[in-house]
Amino acid sequence: MLKLTNVTTMIGEHQVIHDVSLQIAQGDFVALLGGNGAGKTSLFRTIVGVLPPAKGKIEFKGEEISHIAAYKIVGKGIALCPEGRQLFPQLPVYKNLMLGAYHRKDKKGIEETLEQVYTLFPRLKERYKQMAGTFSGGEQQMLAIGRAIMSKPELLLLDEPSMGLAPLVVEGIADAITQLNKMGITVFLSEQNAQIALMITRHGYVMENGHLVLEGLSKDLITNDKVKKAYLGT
Ligand SMILES: Nc1ncnc2c1ncn2[C@@H]1O[C@H](COP(=O)(O)OP(=O)(O)O)[C@@H](O)[C@H]1O
Ligand SMILES: [Mg+2]
Repeated sequence: MLKLTNVTTMIGEHQVIHDVSLQIAQGDFVALLGGNGAGKTSLFRTIVGVLPPAKGKIEFKGEEISHIAAYKIVGKGIALCPEGRQLFPQLPVYKNLMLGAYHRKDKKGIEETLEQVYTLFPRLKERYKQMAGTFSGGEQQMLAIGRAIMSKPELLLLDEPSMGLAPLVVEGIADAITQLNKMGITVFLSEQNAQIALMITRHGYVMENGHLVLEGLSKDLITNDKVKKAYLGT
């Protein structure tokens, strides 16, 4: 479904992604692990067209999307749930959700997706009129994921959804993400929290200094000495 071939990304003079190649199959659930500054966010921004690659190729469902504008990539079926949630705090929950569907014209379909989001996160339905800025961290993360779902993605990129949340809240978010994958959405999940990411995903990539340095089945990575030392603190 998603294929990156020798992707290199620059921010000004600074090379943030080095020659990254990876593939994600339809329906898969894949982790992108790496510490602060490893390049996870830059890689996601490259995939969704916010930070186009300087070199290399990005293909989605067989079509090259390397130089397609970000707003068109959403319409092709890729959604990014960004790091730090990036909600509109002064807008109610409902309006934040609807912003995710801005490119869709199918009114009935939008209503159906909204019901799916409300089923996944009943809290959002209960509080649909509340200003997003008054939500707790966990509720804001649910809202950010819900907004990404509103675009009806086939591929969902989640950038560090566990950031800043208490362990119990993280568990709830992890369950919701697992459910989305079971519903058929292909998920690429970036995390510094390797423990939780490797528990729920099937496959994982490890990123350091803009390079992919390791990949494998999540169940193998969890027992890999390098991963244990660098990301699991054991
Ligand atoms: N706007 C920017 N300008 C310059 N350098 C940046 C910018 N954003 C990120 N970087 C650099 O790119 C590298 C990767 O950052 P990032 O993709 O945010 O990593 P991660 O998401 O894994 O923490 C870091 O060295 C960071 O300092
Ligand atoms: Mg990041």
